[in-house]
Amino acid sequence: MKRPGLTVLASGRGSNFRAILDAIEAGTLTARVDRLISDQQDAAALSLAAERGVPAEYIAWPRGGRQDFEAAVTQRVEEAGSALIVLAGFMRLLSADFVDRFAGRVLNIHPSLLPAFKGLDAPGQAVAYGVKVSGCTVHLVTADMDAGPILAQVAVPVLEGDTGERLAARILVQEHRLYPATIAAYLAEREARHD
Ligand code: GRF
Repeated sequence: MKRPGLTVLASGRGSNFRAILDAIEAGTLTARVDRLISDQQDAAALSLAAERGVPAEYIAWPRGGRQDFEAAVTQRVEEAGSALIVLAGFMRLLSADFVDRFAGRVLNIHPSLLPAFKGLDAPGQAVAYGVKVSGCTVHLVTADMDAGPILAQVAVPVLEGDTGERLAARILVQEHRLYPATIAAYLAEREARHD
C-alpha cells in the first residue's frame, strides 16, 4: 500500500519537521513527506529538506495577498495527492477558503495548552501570566487562529524562575514526540474510516 503523503509548511528552523522525518525513518510514522514548502527564503527548514532529500520549495507570501501562495500550495498538494498538510512552525494565517477546501486535513502544533495562550510567544505568555502548567497542542486548523478541534495535548510544568525561552525549550522536547505520534494516530484513524 502507498504511504500517505504529507506536505509540510514551515517558516523557520524546522525542528518539528526534523522530528517528523526522524519518526518516518525510525518506522514509528508510516508516511512520506511529499514536499516541504516555506514562505521564508532563508528558512533552515529548506536546508534541512535538501540534506534529507525531500523536495523543497520557497513560495513567496506576497505583501497584501495570500491567494497566490495558497493557489501554489493547493496545486502542489493536489499534484502529489498528499493526505495531510502539516504546519510545522508556519507563521502565517491561512484563509477560510484554503482551510475549508482541505477541511480535516490541515494539522498544526502550538506551544501551549489551547485554548490558553493563542498566537505568538505562547511560552512567554504562560510565564507572564503565572500559570503552573503549560504544554503543547496538536489541532486541526480552521479559519480561526489556534482554535480548531484538539487532537492531542501534553502538559509541561512551569518551573520556578522559568523564562519564556526556558519553558519553550522544554515544551519543544515534548512537541517532537507529540507531533509525529499524533500524525501517525490521525492517519491510522482516517485509514480505518477509509477517508
Ligand atoms: C514550535 O514551537 C511550534 O509549536 C510553533 O512554532 C515552533 C516551530 O519550531 N508553532 P520549529 O520550526 O519546528 O523548530
